[in-house]
This record gives sequence, structure tokens and C-alpha cells, in this order.
Amino acid sequence: MKALENPGNPAPATASRLRLGIAGFGTAGRSMLPAIAAHPGCELVAIADASHSLREEIGGALGAAVYPSLASMLDHRDLDAVYIATPTELHLEHVLLAVAAKKHVLVEKPMAENLQRAMAMAVAAEEAGLVCLVGHSHGYDMPVKAMRDLIVGGTLGRVRMVNTWCYSDWMHRPRRVDELDVRLGGGVTYRQGSHQFDILRLLCGGMVRSVRAKTFDWRAERRGIGAHMVFLDFEDGAAATAIYNGYGGFDSAALCFNIGESGFSQPPRTGPRPGADGPRMSVQEELRAKQERARNANWGPSPHPPFFGLTVVSCERGDIRQSPQGLTVYTDEGQRDIPLATDRSPRDLVLAELYDAISRKAPALHDARWGLANLEVCDAAIASSASGSEVLLRHQVRVRPGA
Ligand SMILES: NC(=O)c1ccc[n+]([C@@H]2O[C@H](COP(=O)([O-])OP(=O)(O)OC[C@H]3O[C@@H](n4cnc5c(N)ncnc54)[C@H](O)[C@@H]3O)[C@@H](O)[C@H]2O)c1
Repeated sequence: MKALENPGNPAPATASRLRLGIAGFGTAGRSMLPAIAAHPGCELVAIADASHSLREEIGGALGAAVYPSLASMLDHRDLDAVYIATPTELHLEHVLLAVAAKKHVLVEKPMAENLQRAMAMAVAAEEAGLVCLVGHSHGYDMPVKAMRDLIVGGTLGRVRMVNTWCYSDWMHRPRRVDELDVRLGGGVTYRQGSHQFDILRLLCGGMVRSVRAKTFDWRAERRGIGAHMVFLDFEDGAAATAIYNGYGGFDSAALCFNIGESGFSQPPRTGPRPGADGPRMSVQEELRAKQERARNANWGPSPHPPFFGLTVVSCERGDIRQSPQGLTVYTDEGQRDIPLATDRSPRDLVLAELYDAISRKAPALHDARWGLANLEVCDAAIASSASGSEVLLRHQVRVRPGA
């Protein structure tokens, strides 16, 4: 394999591996470790995190150099790309720093707190000729890819209607304060809607014409947008809805064979709604609980495909939904199951897309313009709910052919 492309700081001619740094080693940052370990062309060389205690904890355990800031990590000698997994309000600053240091970038979703800031990232990366991908999102889940392949295959006719429902306890998981602040890209429309809108745009071709939405903030003990209903009208006449309720009552895993968003079986929740059991933790306690949860999460390959709630696709000649082993397709000829491999996690696919975009110059699906278009839907949903009107979109892009 030839040397990696790294403008301004060319990799040595012998280099065949993508040398990655992670900025922000929390829930998202840690989640990429199994994918990096599994990819034969990738190597984790550096980690930057502002938390002293976290840096002490990591020490040399992962075989990567550890830095207190992204700026200091960017001086690391052999670094090709940076995975930016810091809080959303830092993404712009961190993408600009990485791009100025001529590093390719994978930035977490949501790309930024608003469209203007996302635009600044996209333009900076494009002008520098660097790869900028926005991931991970559940758009990388294998069932979504398989649905997309079926739609593109054409036997089911045009996609006309897609509905996706996710009911979870997102609002009541341990959080940093900013994660619930809509001005900082917090709340379910930015944080979880960005997954849903990615899925819906992938399945319907990408070009959302307009958005009408209602967002909700109905629990006094946990302020922030906790639920939404979003209607997406696509340019070609297709339409989609995204329903999200993060208040922890009904769990959509009950509609999904009790399989959760990482593809593992989860027992049905029977206890009281979270948040119903008295006073909340202090900010510090909540942060510690969040770090503990991140340490224990399992992001590797799973026994089942991941279920980010239930998604049903309706095409002219049939419907598609996820099943415990893959997809079920309903047509005039009957019902059939399509099994899907689960040996590669969605994060394996994110990393593969990054690697291929850098080393093989492969066209990327989740590039900065795609991420920006997803964020435009988030912004529009919140604006539509505030104004009570339909919002027309201007920055949509099609699913890139060949990506
Ligand atoms: N794709 C997904 O499924 C997914 C899941 C979780 C989070 N996210 C996204 O990842 C981003 C981070 O969220 P999280 O839940 O991992 O947060 P987190 O709080 O778990 O982790 C953030 C980490 O960044 C560190 N940090 C803060 N400021 C920093 C700075 N200036 N320099 C270096 N490190 C700094 C913190 O110490 C912390 O360890 C958000 O944009 C979020 O939307 C995505």
C-alpha cells in the first residue's frame, strides 16, 4: 500500500498505516478503540484530554502518547489524522486547529452547535485539501446500509415514506450540563436527531426540501429538548418522520425484539421512569457517573445488528424493516428475511470510510457537506418548532454516487 496522503507533512515513504490521535477521551473517544484495534491499517498514536485524572488513568496503558490539549498533541511527530470527540461546542475550534496543522479530521456528530460554525469547518478543510468526515452516526448501522442497497437496487420501486421511532432514557443518562443546552448543540434534536436525520437522508437520497417539527421540553427536573416529532419533505416527493422521546418511559427496544442500539439484547425495563426517584446528582457526581458508564460500554461487534429504534421503509412495491438478524422485506410475493453480518461494528465502518478517504482517496459519504446538511435539518427542526412554520432548506446534498 502506498504512503498516506498528508499535505504539508508528508508521511515517510515506508508508512502504510494511518496514525490517529483522539481528542477527547470520553464516551465517544473510547468507543473508537475496538475499531482502531481491529483495522489493520490504523494505529492509535496519541490521545489528548483536558482531564488530569483521566490522563493519569490512561497513562501508557494504550501504548499511545497522552497530551493535555489538542494543540500539544498536534506537535506529535507522526500523526496523520485526528478524531475530534470533544464536547460539541469545541468542535469548530478543534477542527480549525487540526486543519491548520495539516491533519485529516473525523469529527463527532453533531458537527457543531449551528450551521454557520459547521460551514466554517467544511470550508477550512476543503481549502486545505484535507479529509473531513462527520461520524459516527447510526447511519453507519449495517441495516441502514442494507436498506439503502435494496432501495438503490430498484426492485421495490421508489422509496416514498420512511418512519423512524426511537424511545430511550437519553435525557436521564448521566450528562455534562452543556449536553442539555440547545445553544451548545445539546438536547435530543441535535444529539439524537443527528443520527435519525442521517438515516432518513441516506434512505431518501439526501435532498430534504423542507422541515416541519415540534420539539418538547416537558420535565421540569431535566430541562432541555427531550423529545421531538420531525416531518421531512424530500425534493423527489418522498417523506419521512423522525420521532424521538428521551424521557425514559416507553423504550423502543420493545418494538425491536429487545435489542438495543449496540446490537446486544437488553431486558425490558420494568421499573419506574428514570428521574422519578428523587433529587439529581451534583454536577461532579454526574460527570463521574458518565465516565464510569463510558468505561463499561461495549462498542465492538455484537450478536445482532444495532437497532437505533424501529425504522420502516415503504417503497412503491414493498416495505422493509430491521429484524433480529438483518432485515425483513414485505412484497406482493410474500415476506422474506435478509440476514446481515455483524462481525463489523458501525464504528469499524466509520474508520474504514476515513481510512479509504485518506489512503485511497475514495469518495466519502459522510463528508463535511453531508454532515452540514444533517445539521441543517437539526437547526430547521428547532426553528420550525419555535416559529410554528415549515422551514425550507438550502444546504442539502445528494448521497454521493460511488460512496
Ligand atoms: N456518535 C455517537 O454515538 C456519540 C456518542 C456520544 C457522544 N458523541 C459526541 O461526541 C462528543 C463528545 O461527547 P461525549 O459524550 O463523548 O463527551 P464526554 O464528556 O464523555 O467526553 C468528552 C471528553 O473531552 C474532554 N475535553 C473537554 N474539553 C477538552 C479540551 N479542550 N481538550 C481536550 N479534551 C477535552 C473531556 O475531559 C472528556 O473526557 C459530542 O459531540 C457528542 O455529541 C457521539
